Amino acid sequence: MEFRTVGVLGCGLMGAGIAQVCAQSGYRTIVREVDDALVSAGLGRIEKFLAVGVKRGKLTAEDKAHALANLSGSIRFEDLAGCDIIIEAIVENVEAKRQAFTTLEPIIGRDTIFASNTSSLCITELASTTKRVDRFVGLHFFSPVPLMKLVEVIRGLTTSVETYNDVFEFAKSLGKEPVTAPDRPGFIANRLLIPYLLDAVRAHESGLGTIEDIDKTMTLGCGHPMGPFTLLDFVGLDTTYYIANIMYAEFRDPVYAPPPLLKRMVLAGRYGRKSGRGFYTY
Ligand code: CAA
Repeated sequence: MEFRTVGVLGCGLMGAGIAQVCAQSGYRTIVREVDDALVSAGLGRIEKFLAVGVKRGKLTAEDKAHALANLSGSIRFEDLAGCDIIIEAIVENVEAKRQAFTTLEPIIGRDTIFASNTSSLCITELASTTKRVDRFVGLHFFSPVPLMKLVEVIRGLTTSVETYNDVFEFAKSLGKEPVTAPDRPGFIANRLLIPYLLDAVRAHESGLGTIEDIDKTMTLGCGHPMGPFTLLDFVGLDTTYYIANIMYAEFRDPVYAPPPLLKRMVLAGRYGRKSGRGFYTY
């Protein structure tokens, strides 16, 4: 199947990044948000990212203009009617996602593929909320989407081989490196990353070292781009807590149990960069 037009549901951090790479890769891209303010904020985020790219010499002013010409924002589901693939990047809530899919299904074409950027929900369950269980796939991007090369492509129990292969090729066409990941909480990346992040919090709580020293150890000693606490603040403590709870609920393995400090920081609203304070202050 040839994709020409891409719909993106949600223009937050992930949705904006996904819409940006689709538009930059030559796809006509329509991103849908719930109100005009969120549409403007999301498109503004993309414009700013592209402008920084031009300033850094990563793309030309012409590339930026082409990308923006491919991109439009809307609050209407109807504007996604002609899309070949719709990538969902809204709130991590099965009911909210079900409602969006249910609203879209009578509007879009029979062959349109749904892809979900969920980081932890079950792809087979999300597919089952639609009438196109064979044309539903997981497509998990990493933050910041325009810079991170990896995309996990997740085959649900009902995803057809054709859909899977088409979406795998589509991910490549975005300049990404796709990998095949199983429909299990955390897929591949978070299956390994979440226990590491949780363990860093536990280790700090048990006196292993300061937040700064643990971060410095992992960046300077192990070559990680960010230490675990900088990364927790970057991903969001609320997001990490949410993913950890889903993984713990499925596997019942204590390595996924959120440590008490993480829970309390989330309860205190210290989500990381997005709220101005997490393990560090911004
Ligand atoms: N446009 C184009 N290129 C840009 C750019 C822009 N607006 N902004 C930055 N870049 C380029 C820079 O020019 C630079 O390129 P070179 O390496 O070729 O010089 C590169 O991107 C890195 O930029 P910076 O030097 O500004 O920043 P940095 O070196 O501090 O790296 C980072 C920033 C890429 C975010 C890096 O810190 C990193 O990789 N961090 C880890 C991020 C990570 O782990 N993400 C995954 C989180 S988990 C997740 O998302 C999934 C989940 O489900 C929770």
